[in-house]
Amino acid sequence: MLSLTNKRILLGVTGGIAAYKCAELTRLFIKAGAEVRVAMTKAATEFITPLTMQALSGNRVHLDLLDTEAEAAMGHIELARWADLVLIAPATADFIARMTHGQADDILSTLVLATSAPVAVAPAMNQGMWSDVATQSNLSALRERHYHIFGPDTGEQACGDVGPGRMMEPEQLLQECAGLFETGHLAGLKFVITGGPTREALDPVRFISNHSSGKMAYALAAEAAVAGAQVILVSGPVHLPTPNGVTRIDVESAIEMLQATLDNIQAADAFIGVAAVADYRPQQFSAEKIKKSSDQIELSLVKNPDIISEIAKLKQRPLVVGFAAETNNIVQNGREKLKNKKLDLLFANNATETFDSDTISVTVISPDAEDELPTANKNVVARKLLQLISERLNNRQ
Ligand code: PMT
Repeated sequence: MLSLTNKRILLGVTGGIAAYKCAELTRLFIKAGAEVRVAMTKAATEFITPLTMQALSGNRVHLDLLDTEAEAAMGHIELARWADLVLIAPATADFIARMTHGQADDILSTLVLATSAPVAVAPAMNQGMWSDVATQSNLSALRERHYHIFGPDTGEQACGDVGPGRMMEPEQLLQECAGLFETGHLAGLKFVITGGPTREALDPVRFISNHSSGKMAYALAAEAAVAGAQVILVSGPVHLPTPNGVTRIDVESAIEMLQATLDNIQAADAFIGVAAVADYRPQQFSAEKIKKSSDQIELSLVKNPDIISEIAKLKQRPLVVGFAAETNNIVQNGREKLKNKKLDLLFANNATETFDSDTISVTVISPDAEDELPTANKNVVARKLLQLISERLNNRQ
């Protein structure tokens, strides 16, 4: 069975007779493990009711850009960032034309413009409208902008014509959407990824740690596995399920994380240090719970080993990729870390926004360039970062 486990699909429905097929499409997406949110144009509501789509998706349907209640629940920019994939099905000739011209005069066209997730379009229209030079020219423009065009099928149409313009069947659309995630471009490669926080114990009940949720590392691990890589995820304590196809090794402290990483790094093609590793640990571990005796106590801390630097020093070193969460001078501090730790790539981000958030804004720093990526959900960003890593790995061979 096709898997869309944990994928977030924003289904945009526009006003064509094929809109009724969206009910089945939503059911298939959910069965394949996806979370679905639906946005509809006004014309789409003439063909299928928002209530049907709400009942099937389990989420309130987005209908109006100026609906303050819906915006309060999940604003349109938040929704655009939430999506791993935007699928417009059915996409009418009119909506395709509006997309081509970058219009943003309703909720759906605005979402398409605002998202940095991949956008796919399933055209559905009369065969004459499909063949018209204006529609074909619009579709060429969308293809050039890397939109995915699924279909249309050829056959008998609702208006009685026969020809191209039928929306692809839901099962086929499911396959096309799943195919977008299963690229296989990392097949045969081994990735070791650290993620989450470390805990540095003071006594049997207390520790020093930080707010890392593991979301970024787990997104990278999940996407790398979907892209065909063998993935070992060395994880600090987090509350996340292990992504499909990923081998997870649980650790607590920085020293344990270093050991688990070294134990698994052999023959790795890439190492990605996403973990927020504690730089220091208590010099002494008290075997008994520290008692509240005096008004003030002093903690003596010693430096932890730097895991990523240790990997960068290896004779047979993999591609070494770091992250840096900074509160100020983000790019400058990131660049220093890239240099000092001898990394191939570093993804700098804003510490005040990234920890435990579902979204991230990343500046990609390499020895010779800097590139700021748009804010997006961590799965979408993970796919982009893996694409960059894959390009570097290809250049190395
Ligand atoms: O887990 P989330 O809630 O999704 O949040 C994601 C994140 C903020 C943790 C992630 O995006 C991130 O930025 N991780 C790096 C955190 C950080 O600030 O690291 P650093 O600047 O201390 O270290 C830089 C690099 O060295 C990192 O790749 C880190 O993993 C590595 N390092 C650091 C110290 C150490 N002792 N060993 C290391 O390997």
